Amino acid sequence: MDYEERITAAELGEGEGMSELTLRPQTLDDYIGQKKVTDNLKIFIEAAKLRNEPLDHVLFYGPPGLGKTTLAGIIANEMGVDIRITSGPAIERAGDLAAILTNLNENDVLFIDEIHRLNRSVEEVLYSAMEDFALDIIIGKGPSARSIRLDIAKFTLIGATTRAGSLSAPLRDRFGVSCKFEVYEPEELKKIIKRSADILGVAADEESMNEMAKRSRGTPRVANRMLKRVRDFSQVKGNGTIDMDITRKALKALGVDDMGLEGLDREILRTIIERFNGGPVGIDTIAASIGEERVTIEDVYEPYLIQTGFLYRTQKGRVVSEDAYRHLGIPHETDEDDDATEDGEQLTVTISG
Ligand code: ADE
Repeated sequence: MDYEERITAAELGEGEGMSELTLRPQTLDDYIGQKKVTDNLKIFIEAAKLRNEPLDHVLFYGPPGLGKTTLAGIIANEMGVDIRITSGPAIERAGDLAAILTNLNENDVLFIDEIHRLNRSVEEVLYSAMEDFALDIIIGKGPSARSIRLDIAKFTLIGATTRAGSLSAPLRDRFGVSCKFEVYEPEELKKIIKRSADILGVAADEESMNEMAKRSRGTPRVANRMLKRVRDFSQVKGNGTIDMDITRKALKALGVDDMGLEGLDREILRTIIERFNGGPVGIDTIAASIGEERVTIEDVYEPYLIQTGFLYRTQKGRVVSEDAYRHLGIPHETDEDDDATEDGEQLTVTISG
């Protein structure tokens, strides 16, 4: 199954944009979590408004599905300006970017998702646009070619990326504010689920909301998608309200286990265990074994597998933890030895204490 079709995929699926929009908060006060980011942004927004200037350019980085686009929309809303949303791969030529930039109004927000995927010639146009609010346009060819400078409206660029390390230094340096997005705590996800359930008009009990929060791999987009699918089950197989019974049934049918892992997550772990003896094994070898792109594994699957402690990155490659063996129900040959070690450690602590 393509990862975009999975319930726990953090990327937006096709046709999902609009339904997501209705669940998206419009103001900073409605935005749950990422407190470090929002506390700072509140101040920068207020200051920019006082000076009647655009907000400085902002870079958002972190795993997909954590609300970067949502927050960009909120910033525009709080600034009282329009937002234009595009992405790195969608801007193919320098001329495409020039067309977007010349259509912006004073203080508008331009949001570029996956900004690390801009091609070099487009990126170069962005430098002078960000720094001087100007475009350098070459007219003519050969010896008679000359460059003219075209002023554009002062704007705010909000760039989002899942891989800050892939950004070129000149681009990275032109952002005045850099915000790291962290995965959400279950408590925060529960609040998001509660808010979304209210908007969707579906009743869900506390226990079910806790369960969905726990299985949403720290990601609001996953939580909202899960809520919608559980709601479908409750309407067709239940009485229209969400309780633990229907939540468990729905998530079982969807192949989401009690840690929020799905088929491909388990396949990655199982491959490392069964074909590479638990690792260490290189990421390219894993990618080739399961037929997925290396970047997809790194950006989409690994962050959560690492967060749960099922997978480690080491110098020699990826290694699966004992917890992963236990979670998959695969015997670990040193399980008993390790238990003994744990007892031994316990004993040492007791003696020295
Ligand atoms: N929906 C998606 N992300 C959200 C967030 N951080 N707060 C509230 N609702 C959301």
